[in-house]
Amino acid sequence: MQERIAQLRQQLQLAGHHYHVLDEPLIPDAEYDRLFRELQALEANHPQWITPDSPTQRVGAQPMSSFVTVAHKVPMLSIHTETDISAEGAIQFDNRVRKVLQLSSEDPPLEYVAELKFDGLAISLIYQDRVLVQACTRGDGQTGEDVTHNIRTIGQIPLRLPDAAPPQLEVRGEVYMRRDDFESLNERQRSRIAEGVKNEKTFVNPRNAAAGAVRQLDPKIAAQRPLSFFAYALHFHAPSDAVLSPVEATLNGLQTYGTHHQILMALKQWGFPVSDDCQLVAGAQGLIAYHQQIAQARDRLPFDIDGVVYKVNQISLQARLGMVSREPRWAVAHKYPAQEELTTVQAIEVQVGRTGKLTPVAKLAPVFVGGVTVTNATLHNEDEARRKDVRVGDTVVVRRAGDVIPEVVSVLLDKRDHAAPAFTMPRHCPVCDSPAVREEGEADFRCTGGLFCSAQRKQALLHFAQRRAVEIDDLGEKLVDQLVDAELVKTLPDLYRLTRAQLIGLDRMAEKSANNLLASLEKSKQTTLPRFLYGLGIRHVGEATAKDLARHFGGLQAIINASVDQLLMVNDVGPVVANSLRAFFDQVHNREVVQQLRECGVHWEEFAPGARLDLPLSGHTYVITGSLPTLSREQAQALLEQAGAKVAGSVSKKTTGVVAGEAAGSKLEKAMALGIPVLDEAALLALTRST
Ligand code: IVH
Repeated sequence: MQERIAQLRQQLQLAGHHYHVLDEPLIPDAEYDRLFRELQALEANHPQWITPDSPTQRVGAQPMSSFVTVAHKVPMLSIHTETDISAEGAIQFDNRVRKVLQLSSEDPPLEYVAELKFDGLAISLIYQDRVLVQACTRGDGQTGEDVTHNIRTIGQIPLRLPDAAPPQLEVRGEVYMRRDDFESLNERQRSRIAEGVKNEKTFVNPRNAAAGAVRQLDPKIAAQRPLSFFAYALHFHAPSDAVLSPVEATLNGLQTYGTHHQILMALKQWGFPVSDDCQLVAGAQGLIAYHQQIAQARDRLPFDIDGVVYKVNQISLQARLGMVSREPRWAVAHKYPAQEELTTVQAIEVQVGRTGKLTPVAKLAPVFVGGVTVTNATLHNEDEARRKDVRVGDTVVVRRAGDVIPEVVSVLLDKRDHAAPAFTMPRHCPVCDSPAVREEGEADFRCTGGLFCSAQRKQALLHFAQRRAVEIDDLGEKLVDQLVDAELVKTLPDLYRLTRAQLIGLDRMAEKSANNLLASLEKSKQTTLPRFLYGLGIRHVGEATAKDLARHFGGLQAIINASVDQLLMVNDVGPVVANSLRAFFDQVHNREVVQQLRECGVHWEEFAPGARLDLPLSGHTYVITGSLPTLSREQAQALLEQAGAKVAGSVSKKTTGVVAGEAAGSKLEKAMALGIPVLDEAALLALTRST
């Protein structure tokens, strides 16, 4: 019996590790549940054999009335933070370290471990005889709170360590919440509030939600909050029961790990989640490269980080560096600009897009977030705006991640002091007053005004003029507003009919700018078929589809004449795209626009249908990542496309090859993981030259 219990515990522990930490389930969920229930039943019959490290004991403790304060055996230090967003932070850290170690410029670069700075809360885990016995928060660094009962509910944290681990140790790391888990938690909270459940609230951000869960008095509630963990530090118990940091352990001759990197690898071996994004790097240059690489990868991570952490790798050097004012001199945090800030909503406006899509936009009190000042944030559509229940006057969390348009993440309901009415989508276009309709199965309302709507006309002109379409350099938003409002331009061909006299008649338009615009218009007449097609702004026809269509048909007339069935023969064209193309060219006025543009002199090279289908790289897909030594990304893409290849944005099993340059990140890693060939610039040139 006891043997079976031990066996079940071992099986469940292993399966749990594969499920929670390695993300590669070992056995089906149903099998796990069956084993779990068997163990539960055996333990129910033999309570004397229950041990705290049994997988059944993760949840179970009774609610508590308060937390017990515990003193940390080794203080939980803070790290010096560099907020300088440039590379300076890394250089200054490296300089300081080298100075203290009395290294000269002749000495080789120092070895560092660069890690992510997880945006959660620090937790210390104490293992005795390889069993988790205590977990506490950082608190003020000297004393924290005992939150063992909540931490035990986190599936990623081992309750028991393998025999290879030292029996007594303290592991430190970060408890955090993944962004997707945070979204579903808030979703659940919102429906509870809607159902009228008392004392429920939504959370402002993942860190806040994680902190709330860790400090839950009822572990059953904590168990429902999806928490994750990353380990990043190890401290040893000395024979005397004092816990020693790796540095102190070294001084006491107890050290078994020479480097921080070895510690991370050991933690991983013992079953702790350790981030795959930690890297061993050389010198300030290595730190800078890491800082930049992670800045680019930041938005693709499934969890929030607020910076990176640099640590001197050699434990003996850490010992020599020591501390100043409660901060180790061997580590530093280098922050990124915050991606979320609080601000207030001054108004909610509805904007009209090129295809008539109505987008509710929150007008905000200006706020510096994600490196820029933000005054507008999208609310996406009516459902989203209502789901988040954003109202004028509300205090909201705004998020701007990378180049993504800023969005309102959530409302701080407890800061709402007066009840502005809930947002509703207008049933008429705010610009042209045509009816706005929401088709079945669609999230968006659209203005039915078409090109009668000046907002749609303006957007259509800007779309046509953009760099990736026919590229009319001097035609910006303000000028388009003026041209449309003065009724000088109603359709695309009107652009090419503008005269110098008309332009000079406009407000703030000097002779020179008029000449510049006319020159840009002239220049734009020579274009390519894909750019022209894309520029027409046909719904669902993006740049890649335009290229596929041009390659397949060779010329525009063939596309205009193609039936839905013929369109479906094109690579990557499905029924939605095919029908949208057909509907567009079935409209007489659209065909007229095309005809008139050609009459105005807009032209491109055509070729025989299908002629490009049998190019050397036809049917092959490449991905470009990082910066190449001499070619720009556009040039590399053009080389590949001229040879018939497709260039995609993400790596998949179907990718033929990845062209990688300096600071290539996750795409390169993914290619290597999938065994996809990697090319450098020289190989790309050789490939496209030989084909
Ligand atoms: S090491 C002496 N590594 O940052 C160095 N801290 O210290 C001890 N943090 O509240 C900390 N990610 O919770 C370290 N990879 C990482 C970290 C990290 C996040 C947090 C930690 C602490 C704060 C500042």
